[in-house]
Amino acid sequence: MVIVGAGPAGLLLSHLLALAEIESTVLECRSRDQIETTVRAGILEADTVRLLTETGASTRVLRDGARHDGIELRFNGEGHRVDFMGLTGHGVWLYPQHEVLKDLLSTRLEQGQDIRFGVTVTAVHDGDRPQVRATDTDGSELRLECDFVVGADGSHSAVRKAVTGSATSGHFREYPFAWFGILCEAPPSAAELIYSNSEHGFALISQRSPTVQRMYLQCDPELDPEAMSDDLVWEELQRRVAPHPLSTGPIFQRDVLRFRSFVASSLHRGHVALVGDAAHTVPPTGAKGMNLAVADVLVLARALRALLLDGNATAINRYEQDVLPRIWKAQHFSWWMTQMLHRTPDASEFDRLRQHGELSSVVESEAGRRYLAEAYTGWPRPTDEALAVV
Ligand code: DHB
Repeated sequence: MVIVGAGPAGLLLSHLLALAEIESTVLECRSRDQIETTVRAGILEADTVRLLTETGASTRVLRDGARHDGIELRFNGEGHRVDFMGLTGHGVWLYPQHEVLKDLLSTRLEQGQDIRFGVTVTAVHDGDRPQVRATDTDGSELRLECDFVVGADGSHSAVRKAVTGSATSGHFREYPFAWFGILCEAPPSAAELIYSNSEHGFALISQRSPTVQRMYLQCDPELDPEAMSDDLVWEELQRRVAPHPLSTGPIFQRDVLRFRSFVASSLHRGHVALVGDAAHTVPPTGAKGMNLAVADVLVLARALRALLLDGNATAINRYEQDVLPRIWKAQHFSWWMTQMLHRTPDASEFDRLRQHGELSSVVESEAGRRYLAEAYTGWPRPTDEALAVV
């Protein structure tokens, strides 16, 4: 097997395949340090945590992560709690994606996984023995032949073309705003996450640890993250969650996250398949990206085991059909949360008040809160069956 991409999808797939004694080589264009330090989202569904811990991929999440049993939705100056545990019996875990990556990388490398950092894939050719061409760290050409190739190489996937016929073919949506994310040294401003709809734009108050916090402001996609002073960032965050008081402190990291929705036109062809962001991208509201990647990987690992160990292609031929319903539910949920909470540049008073109507319908009805809670904590997935991969 060749797996392109050492993100959560690629590394977890290599882990599940190794448990079934299927060998893989992972090709990754970034360095290990880049992977381990890039700041990403921080929410894991309970089933994601269960899979990581029960397969031995990461147990640190149980020690260093924090379980969150609900979130607050804020609008019109008031907060409303959505009680995930009471509504669904599950919480979610706050544990940053780069910590998951550190755990997965050290587990895989300790177990002898072949991971080639700094290798850029240039072409994938399908066939009975698919071929991957790449440029090695020293600029030399690398050719690998294998039984199956998986593109787990993110939204700019180099593998996608071998599956869909073109690098961009699929269903696509852009949004006229982005998130300006910060990390700061400060105590938590709230025990749970706050998603705030405000007339000044959306804000999200998240956490990282007792001394480090993560927060986001809706912004223009072209915003220069260095353009605002710390004072201005705090003023803007504060007015978007008012009257809830924020604990402030030095800001030591800033980034701008683009918003896109995308589903590739196909996810499997011949001996090549796509998982995670290579297959689909969601906007960050609701933190579905990595959880959706993990759900794909479970289905794909099972299908590859049947194909490569038993010569049975039934499951791989059903892969797309099996994963698409969850992908589209997550697309809808991420879009729904995004449109309900953000202010579009041309928003009228009608749009603002309609959003309040929508948010009231959600928080005032148990059915509304439950709908949000089920989606946020993650719809049931065939975890036990998939763990039989092990
Ligand atoms: C975080 C990111 C999200 O997109 C989200 O919905 C919740 C939390 C985070 O980085 O903490």
